[in-house]
Amino acid sequence: MHRLAADHLDLNSEYSYVMFGDYFAETSVVAEANGEVIGFATGFRAPEDPETLFVFQIATGDAFAGQGIASEMLDHLVRRATTPRVRFLEATVTPDNDASTRLFESFASRWDAQLERQECYGADLFGSGHQPEFRFRIGPF
Ligand SMILES: CC(C)(COP(=O)(O)OP(=O)(O)OC[C@H]1O[C@@H](n2cnc3c(N)ncnc32)[C@H](O)[C@@H]1OP(=O)(O)O)[C@@H](O)C(=O)NCCC(=O)NCCS
Repeated sequence: MHRLAADHLDLNSEYSYVMFGDYFAETSVVAEANGEVIGFATGFRAPEDPETLFVFQIATGDAFAGQGIASEMLDHLVRRATTPRVRFLEATVTPDNDASTRLFESFASRWDAQLERQECYGADLFGSGHQPEFRFRIGPF
């Protein structure tokens, strides 16, 4: 997970990926091919609303992009997290991230659910030119 994140995402510590796989195993997943991790998603239930699954990070290795792996991971997480059932999925996305935007739009249409987007973390909250983040809220399923 750390290796895949290093290529594409704001990189967190190695410890944080191990911790997600332990404390947030129900809401995190890896995709494997030939014994290699080729995709991952980390997430958690919103503390104030356990029926909302927040996807913290999701990535697919370049060699496997566009083959439905990230979509499969999202579908799997929503199906797996049943106690209580997940009824909403949230993630934040920067406006320049076409692949991520399309991933969540496609998820919403596959689950026949509404997608609301709203700026949540303005660029002023970040240093070094980080884009604003828009919260995508999809559901109810
Ligand atoms: C976003 C990401 C996880 C998508 O992974 P993926 O396994 O390629 O996604 P899928 O194959 O399931 O495709 C999902 C949808 O996105 C579309 N898509 C995938 N890559 C795309 C791209 N580069 N540009 C536009 N659309 C794209 C697919 O066509 C598909 O749409 P469809 O269902 O209408 O056909 C991957 O591009 C990635 O790792 N990006 C870098 C990390 C990142 O930005 N993560 C999200 C922020 S936390």
